[in-house]
Amino acid sequence: MIVLGIETSCDETAAAVVDETGHPTRPWRVKSNIIASQADIHREWGGIVPELSARQHVRDICGVVERALAEAQADRYDAIAVTQGPGLVGSLLVGLSFAKSLAWARGVPLIPVHHLAGHIESLVLDHGELPLPAVILVVSGGHTSLYRVEARGRYELLGRTRDDAAGEAFDKIAKLLGLGYPGGPAIDRVAREGNDTAVRFPKTRLKHADRNAPELPGRRDFSFSGLKTSVLRYVTLRRGELGLAEADPLPRKDVVDIAASFQRVVVESLLDGLFDAARWYDAHSVGIAGGVSANSRLRADAVVRGAARGIPVAVPGLSLSTDNAAMIAAAGLRRFRSGYVGSLDINADASLALT
Ligand code: KG4
Ligand code: ZN
Repeated sequence: MIVLGIETSCDETAAAVVDETGHPTRPWRVKSNIIASQADIHREWGGIVPELSARQHVRDICGVVERALAEAQADRYDAIAVTQGPGLVGSLLVGLSFAKSLAWARGVPLIPVHHLAGHIESLVLDHGELPLPAVILVVSGGHTSLYRVEARGRYELLGRTRDDAAGEAFDKIAKLLGLGYPGGPAIDRVAREGNDTAVRFPKTRLKHADRNAPELPGRRDFSFSGLKTSVLRYVTLRRGELGLAEADPLPRKDVVDIAASFQRVVVESLLDGLFDAARWYDAHSVGIAGGVSANSRLRADAVVRGAARGIPVAVPGLSLSTDNAAMIAAAGLRRFRSGYVGSLDINADASLALT
């Protein structure tokens, strides 16, 4: 079975062709994976502008899908998998409407996919099926969530951020430090020059249960807004100490030390949550997916912690860590093979739940 995947939930227009191998642990093969990034458009505004994103998806989608089919040398496909949510509703609508029209015109099934199911299945594209039960951290610009996978294709939420997503915190702190957009890769780069214990930012420990979340033993939530405020307060104090005028940039040494110290706290918080949950649920493997999984410190520290505990760690290769459509096609194949048949009257859902 050959699946065309389409993803437009945020600021990347993506299409991919994925087929099945018949192999029990390496079930899918990526034939093409095309991504048109809008980063240059949003950089000017210091963050994603939803209206501009939706309009750019409209411009790019035909070309991106054509390239994905051409590169895969696919003159036919058996189904279309598309991100239904969560994401920016205007952006989601472009991919979903396009996919619906194509499915109708070609007479092939449409498989709606949850964006985070895509991130989770991206791990399988690179590593093969994970030993179960697995605990997966999905960490991106919009999400910081922990899932348990006990049966393939079934995802149980174990915890999530109460406020900012980790990627959002990276982006905001990068902006504060004058490092530009997107902020995650910029902080990752400069943090290598910095001293990560130069500034002692506090790690948030959540004491109270989240009244809006289901009661779950071993629930692990995250919070990054306190850290963001600490960094902001520190930068304001430091600028005062140095007598800087409003337009003056912080000295390079301060920027790299703050970036490294901030990154250390984020990475430790994420890995504490992931490995605590893994121990609680006796996981046989852990995974990290989503844009922030590209972070070099997070990847390196995860491998070290996994080795210390004798638990395999899966992190996707860089081309599959940020938003892409190969992961959507893979999650679509999983869903289709479990007996799910989509209908053409589905709608985009900006806050779709993963169940
Ligand atoms: O998964 P993704 O491409 O899109 C969303 O669904 O949000 O993730 C984008 C996020 C951005 O916040 C970006 O700053 C962050 O991932 N990111 C990183 C790195 N590369 C991307 N954060 C930290 N370190 C990186 N190397
Ligand atoms: Zn994503």
